Amino acid sequence: MKILGIETSCDETGIAIYDSELGLLGHELYSQVQLHMEFGGVVPELASRDHVRKMLPLLDKLFSRTGISSADIDGIAYTAGPGLVGALLVGATIAKSLAFAWGIPSIGVHHMEAHLLAPMLEENPPEFPFVALLVSGGHTMMVQVMGIGQYKILGESVDDAAGEAFDKVAKMLELPYPGGPSVAALAEKGSHERFHFPRPMTEKPGLDFSFSGLKTYTLNAIRKEGADEQTKADIACAFQDAVVDTLVIKCKRALKQTGLNRILIAGGVSANKLLRSRLHAMSKKEQVEVAYPRFEFCTDNGAMIAYTGCKRLELGCKDDLEISVFPRWPISDINVAS
Ligand code: KG4
Ligand code: ZN
Repeated sequence: MKILGIETSCDETGIAIYDSELGLLGHELYSQVQLHMEFGGVVPELASRDHVRKMLPLLDKLFSRTGISSADIDGIAYTAGPGLVGALLVGATIAKSLAFAWGIPSIGVHHMEAHLLAPMLEENPPEFPFVALLVSGGHTMMVQVMGIGQYKILGESVDDAAGEAFDKVAKMLELPYPGGPSVAALAEKGSHERFHFPRPMTEKPGLDFSFSGLKTYTLNAIRKEGADEQTKADIACAFQDAVVDTLVIKCKRALKQTGLNRILIAGGVSANKLLRSRLHAMSKKEQVEVAYPRFEFCTDNGAMIAYTGCKRLELGCKDDLEISVFPRWPISDINVAS
């Protein structure tokens, strides 16, 4: 079964074909970073319009690169939420129209489930059950994963997501959008010793997160310490250390609480190199397995949507013809009855 996956939830136009037997056959991605850069963040209306412009040319490119044609496709998966409503509607409308024209089923996919399953596209994917830490621009969540569509939320952010905190701190430090990679790059020039920022909600038991206070702490540090280039780098470093340490402490705690010995990290922030190296160190010490997506599949992409759609269609899920999207959609709503 060959599934076409379409991602348009935010500022990346992604498309891919996943084969249930052969794996990922190809994928294309167009990033709108340049388009939004001058505004310092994503402008929703511009994002929607650009998805309209880019999706079908990307589909043509994917077909010509893979030698696959519409007649070979057995189903279409698209991101149905959460995300920007206009951007989601573009993907949903294209997916449903093509599925109707080609006489095949379509399936709306939950964007965070797709992030969660992205590491399954790698060689030697982890076996179920495992713990998943989802760290993206919109969500931070710890999930116990028993199988596809069997998710138990162990904890989540009570305010800002980890990626959102990176993006906001980037603005405070006058760094370009997207903020995560800019803060991480500046942090490499900073000192780990000069400042020590708090590790929020690690003193209390539990697996929830809160990054809003850390963001304010960072702002106060910038105001107090001044903003010469070295101080900015030292502050970026202290902020990144605090976020990464907090995430690692919670990962350890989630493994202990569930008694599991596998953890998977996904979403945009899982591209963070310090997070990966600290998790690697933790995994060696605690003798647990840790899995990530390849760097290009940490952020939004079509491959994770095609994979998730394929797994969902195999479970017998599919859409009717109505076009509906879910800009806010709790992941706990998508469990498949076992
Ligand atoms: O998963 P994603 O592409 O989009 C959402 O579904 O939200 O994640 C984007 C987020 C942004 O907040 C971005 O700043 C962050 O991931 N990010 C990073 C890094 N690369 C992307 N944060 C920290 N370090 C990075 N290297
Ligand atoms: Zn995402």
